Amino acid sequence: MTDHYYQSSGSEVQLFKRAAQQRVPLMLTGPTGCGKTRLVEHMGGVLGREVVTISCHDDLTSSDLVGRFMVTGGDVVWNDGPLTRAVKAGAICYMDEVVEARHDSLAVLHSLTDHRRTLYLDRAGQTVKAPDSFMLVCSYNPAYRSSLKELKPSFRQRFVTVAMRYLPAEREAEVLVAEAGVDAAVARRLVNCAIGIRKADDIFHFEPPSTRVLVTAARLVAAGATEMEAAEACILAPLSNDGAIADGLRELAAASLLDASTPTPRSTAGGIKP
Ligand SMILES: Nc1ncnc2c1ncn2[C@@H]1O[C@H](COP(=O)(O)OP(=O)(O)OP(=O)(O)O)[C@@H](O)[C@H]1O
Ligand SMILES: [Mg+2]
Repeated sequence: MTDHYYQSSGSEVQLFKRAAQQRVPLMLTGPTGCGKTRLVEHMGGVLGREVVTISCHDDLTSSDLVGRFMVTGGDVVWNDGPLTRAVKAGAICYMDEVVEARHDSLAVLHSLTDHRRTLYLDRAGQTVKAPDSFMLVCSYNPAYRSSLKELKPSFRQRFVTVAMRYLPAEREAEVLVAEAGVDAAVARRLVNCAIGIRKADDIFHFEPPSTRVLVTAARLVAAGATEMEAAEACILAPLSNDGAIADGLRELAAASLLDASTPTPRSTAGGIKP
């Protein structure tokens, strides 16, 4: 099984292991690019289990999850969906952006996520009891949630929930070093740049730059780009189409890149015009 590098931010690895040991499902929440998917991949390696990923969307039906009858060579045969396959294989089933799925599609998960740990395939007339190694892990980004897309309390309360955040500065810089091969000083400056912008996010309310964009920026630097070019293309450009905001953030980014001796950048936030 591939070893996926994961830098821990707290007790989430322990919590994951304990949830797996107690056979309870896990819900990961957190902003884009903060390491939710990477944590699941990493834990698949740690626990020695296959990870079956299902990307949820609002057209996803319960048949897409559990399976359906299909005509193959003149015969009508039952085909397991990814959820059923994961249950039978005792895998980790990872349902990404679960909040996008409709409530009626998620209803099949109810019996699987309580003491029964059983999937009822009504159409196939089968009952599948999950082996001990089966684990359901779901994730979503609370920032994208609309009131129309609230998970039901009866669903949420079945899970151990881990609210993930961006890593502390030094650990986030270590991720950049490990993922992009840049040296520690470059990593620190890019992280410093993101921290400055994340603080300004309190004023502008955009989704702040993630560890993902920092890794991409670091990779551009590793490929020969200047730090400002990389920051512009990977950190600033995806944030906002508003020219005034972009100018303010560019000023902030340039200042943060220059001053990375401390994790906190010189405050230029006051000089930014929304
Ligand atoms: N804790 C971490 N350890 C190692 N790498 C990380 C970590 N957090 C983020 N990364 C890096 O950032 C990238 C994005 O992380 P990941 O795909 O796990 O984000 P996510 O939280 O699943 O985001 P989304 O909600 O957009 O799917 C990873 O490919 C990895 O390079
Ligand atoms: Mg993800």
